[in-house]
Amino acid sequence: MKLSYSSSSSLTIFLVSLFLVADHGGARVTLPANVSFPAVIAFGDSIVDQGANNNLKTLIKANFSPYGKDFVAGKPTGRFSNNKTPADMLVEQLGIKELLPAYLDPSLDDKELLTGVSFASGGAGFDPQTSQLAGVLSFADQLNQFKEYIEKLKGIVGKERTQYILANSLFLLVAGTDDLANTYFDVGIRRLHYNISSYSNLLVSSASKFILDIYKLGARRIGVFNAPPIGCLPSQRTLSGNGHRHMCAKKFNKAAQLYNNKLQTELKRLNSTLIQSRIVNVDIYTPLLSIIENPQQYGLEVVDRGCCGTGTVEVAVLCNKFLPACLDDSKYLFWDSYHPTEKGYNILINQLLGKYINDFF
Ligand SMILES: *[C@@H]1O[C@H](CO)[C@@H](O)[C@H](O)[C@H]1NC(C)=O
Ligand SMILES: *[C@@H]1O[C@H](CO)[C@@H](O)[C@H](O)[C@H]1NC(C)=O
Ligand SMILES: *[C@@H]1O[C@H](CO)[C@@H](O)[C@H](O)[C@H]1NC(C)=O
Repeated sequence: MKLSYSSSSSLTIFLVSLFLVADHGGARVTLPANVSFPAVIAFGDSIVDQGANNNLKTLIKANFSPYGKDFVAGKPTGRFSNNKTPADMLVEQLGIKELLPAYLDPSLDDKELLTGVSFASGGAGFDPQTSQLAGVLSFADQLNQFKEYIEKLKGIVGKERTQYILANSLFLLVAGTDDLANTYFDVGIRRLHYNISSYSNLLVSSASKFILDIYKLGARRIGVFNAPPIGCLPSQRTLSGNGHRHMCAKKFNKAAQLYNNKLQTELKRLNSTLIQSRIVNVDIYTPLLSIIENPQQYGLEVVDRGCCGTGTVEVAVLCNKFLPACLDDSKYLFWDSYHPTEKGYNILINQLLGKYINDFF
């Protein structure tokens, strides 16, 4: 922007635009004039956990170094990355605010509540067993907190405006990875009674029920992330134990694809049956695999291990300040053995916004 102070009117224009930029956080996606998202409301797992787990009795935490290494003042906040999460990036890109706070953040004021929060809890899954194994907030817990949140909104702006906020905000559901990777494959408790097809059915029907629950409470614009290529996560490359780190574990990726196909079918059905809804299947599988297969194209160098420690197993409490970290995390897709770096999230979110934002209105 070229600034000129030669007349008071241009100074006024400058100050007004500065105010607008500051007030709206500098929206980067262009939306039609009559479209806006008053808030972003997130549910799910560690990808959009903004600190919910900080005060829970669980090992699935990230409120210590080196998490948050590149965050404001290098502060670990409970976000499972070196910096912002996709939820932060979304509110920033939509011009709503700079960071999406956790609903459980004790310092929330009214303005924060009105512009959105995250109920997500690292380690959670659509399968209630997944959240229970991790000792974290299940989707049922998150739904209860959401109901409490709606009552708070009504107290602040009244019933009508609350309904408007719910109907127009962007709801984000991010889960399924912990169910497939942890509960089904690594721990294996569900393998006693399910195969991957019937387990996927369980996950999809649980996701579907949750979507219906928030729809009944007023949500209309709902984006649901599908599962990433879990066989390419550094942790799963290690666990597959085939000795070829450079190869993604096919078995896990096939499971994710099977689940994703079922999810897509169900989301399409919901989108066409729930009146006035925009229920969008957000495919992260394809773009992530593309990044993993062509890292140089995205300015990345390392995609088969995380930045923290050896990068092959460390995650949550196992990724801590006693371990060395990589020198330049902007060359890595993964921060720990499970979660992308800010750089990785940025590449992904920019692609997704361009591809899907118009599907929400
Ligand atoms: C927004 O504007 C477009 C074009 O003028 C119109 O077709 C659409 O119905 C409007 N949407 C809303 C929600 O008012
Ligand atoms: C998976 O389990 C279901 C029922 O539990 C069964 O009908 C189906 O044939 C099984 N699929 C495979 C591939 O084994
Ligand atoms: C969802 O349904 C609406 C009509 O209700 C349709 O315009 C839109 O294309 C559908 N979106 C998807 C992603 O299927």
